[in-house]
Amino acid sequence: MPEFPCDKPVLVTCGLPYANGPAHIGHLRTYIPADMFVRTLRKMRQDTVFVCGSDTHGTPIIVNAEEHKMPPAEFIKKYHLLFADVFKKFQIDFNRYGSTDDPTNHERTRSIVMDLQKNGYVYPKTIPVAYCKTCARGLPDRYVEGVCPYCGQNARGDECDIGCQRHLEPGEILDPRCKVCGTKAEIRQQEHFFFKLSSFGDFLQQYLDTLHATPNAVNYAMEWAKELKDWCITRNLEWGVRYPGHEDLVVYVWVDAPIGYIAFTEEYMSSVGRDWQSIWKGDSRIIHFIGGDIIYHHCIFWPAMLKGAGYTLPWGVVASGMIKVNDKKFSKSRGYIVWVEDDYLAHGFHPDLLRYYILSYTSHTKDINFSWKEFQTKINKELVGSFGNFVNRILTFIDSKGIDVHGTVDPEVSAAIKVAADTMTTEIANYEFKKISDAIITLSDFGNTYFQGHEPWKLIKEDPAACRQVLYNCVQIVKALAVLSEPLVPAKAAEIWGMLGYKPEDLANASIDEAFVPYENVARPKPKILFAKLEDKKIAEMEKILDQRVSVAEAKARGQKEAEPEPKMEQITIDDFGRMELRVGRVVSCERVKGSKKLLKSMIDLGEDKPRQILSGIAEVYTPEEMVGKTVIVIANLKPAKIMGIESNGMVLAADSNGATLLTVEKPSEPGTRIH
Ligand code: MF3
Ligand code: ZN
Repeated sequence: MPEFPCDKPVLVTCGLPYANGPAHIGHLRTYIPADMFVRTLRKMRQDTVFVCGSDTHGTPIIVNAEEHKMPPAEFIKKYHLLFADVFKKFQIDFNRYGSTDDPTNHERTRSIVMDLQKNGYVYPKTIPVAYCKTCARGLPDRYVEGVCPYCGQNARGDECDIGCQRHLEPGEILDPRCKVCGTKAEIRQQEHFFFKLSSFGDFLQQYLDTLHATPNAVNYAMEWAKELKDWCITRNLEWGVRYPGHEDLVVYVWVDAPIGYIAFTEEYMSSVGRDWQSIWKGDSRIIHFIGGDIIYHHCIFWPAMLKGAGYTLPWGVVASGMIKVNDKKFSKSRGYIVWVEDDYLAHGFHPDLLRYYILSYTSHTKDINFSWKEFQTKINKELVGSFGNFVNRILTFIDSKGIDVHGTVDPEVSAAIKVAADTMTTEIANYEFKKISDAIITLSDFGNTYFQGHEPWKLIKEDPAACRQVLYNCVQIVKALAVLSEPLVPAKAAEIWGMLGYKPEDLANASIDEAFVPYENVARPKPKILFAKLEDKKIAEMEKILDQRVSVAEAKARGQKEAEPEPKMEQITIDDFGRMELRVGRVVSCERVKGSKKLLKSMIDLGEDKPRQILSGIAEVYTPEEMVGKTVIVIANLKPAKIMGIESNGMVLAADSNGATLLTVEKPSEPGTRIH
């Protein structure tokens, strides 16, 4: 049985963008595939609702609003409108693009918190929280920076964003400092409210087994579900949703943000006279499209919260891979970023080109690299060279030769159309957007070969009837391409529809079956070029803009380093050094730590009766395979520590350059050799 269409309503959501800055192509990595998913389901006549909205609360917003000297309400409005505008330009057509500051969301959040309280899942507890004396305020979440207690990386107050990606609870971060002024934070005791996440372990393990999730999401979540901590759901802030009964507190942003999914559904459904409860309290399929960095929130917190409050659980979670720029990790501060307005639209690139690039680059869960060169190559080869070329060739030929478009569709042609249509209906349930876009290009390749092979430019003189028949088949392929590519490149597909003599705005409502309905001759306007080739000169200009941004960022980083006084080096005695036992070790075996991108677990021979288990945060630089057999330097008398529940008995030394490079000895030395 195919998964879709089904007789239940489907709700598709996208992770809510923070309304705190303009859109970049990293955002589109998630929203464009979600839009293609929705458009495809609708083509399959699946009842589908599509919502999203701005995430407007939490400390990232407040910190940024403060920096811009704007009240938060004004600040979020600005970016809310910018996002809504970008989505419109890319034809990412939400039924509702709301805001988590909408009254509907305030009400729904308070109602859910009260349900959780009523059902016994919330309790108060006094906890140590960070406070900055200099700024005279509490330091929730991103107001504080410090060290992750799990992996040792620098982290933000509520998440280990660079390291292990874990959510951090208030009070958990080590060595907390105020983000605004850098002062070492003071710890104060305060009453907060906790959600009993720890009691949902069994439920989550079972639930995750049945979830229709991409493997990247479910694998991480399965590990996390094994060790759950209760979750502090209140913060001392002014901006946010007031906590019911304790108006001096607001709820944590990760409570009211996903509840936005419900609120936006309510807003849309009531606007069309439907009942939102058919989705959130009834038998439905709720599917969340998210970035790979917020799996924890969607696969752990969110289902537990919904379960605790008695709402329908999500049916699917689709986590996208990340986007890289010039093969470098996406980074605003290092300049590896492409802004949607300033770097793309403002230079006259059509939104559908980027839609196509993102959807057809690789499978949804893998990382995409964006470089202008690759963009040019892909667009010119596939969209210009195959797809656009075919459409224009056919429409220009029939127009210029005045061909009367009548005939019957060859079985060979219907079969080719059917392959593309079938790929679409089966692969959509696997979230395999690339397979679908490839099938569409295969169909246009087929069209080009068909046209070329039948040589209609000769037939037109030798056998006009046969020529007409060939062109009729070609036009049918053009029609099928328009129908099938509408979820992929909606604006361009609508242009084709218009060139076929139909109303462009009607295409979105055409079902997949329309691809097989024989073309009926109607009056057509003069065909226009669908895709123009991307020229080298233009691409070189774009590369220059990006390169300059990276150089400026590098210069800025260097300048900052130079401006910073060298930290004063603390001096130690030879005895201090002597207390440290450094030894030569040899890696006997090594594996990745499940649920962590950073950590490797090695068994290291130190000349003792058995090898030691040692964890190191180098998995992004060394593979387990290349570790085996390496001679390394180990601090052998470091106190054992538990990281992610795994014991580590020592530490492997590495220099901080280039992500990490291991220390070793210059001549062969036996494991266990002492270093002085
Ligand atoms: N604003 C969050 C982010 O960009 C995502 C919120 S998604 C929701 O990381 F689930 F909370 F809605
Ligand atoms: Zn961490």
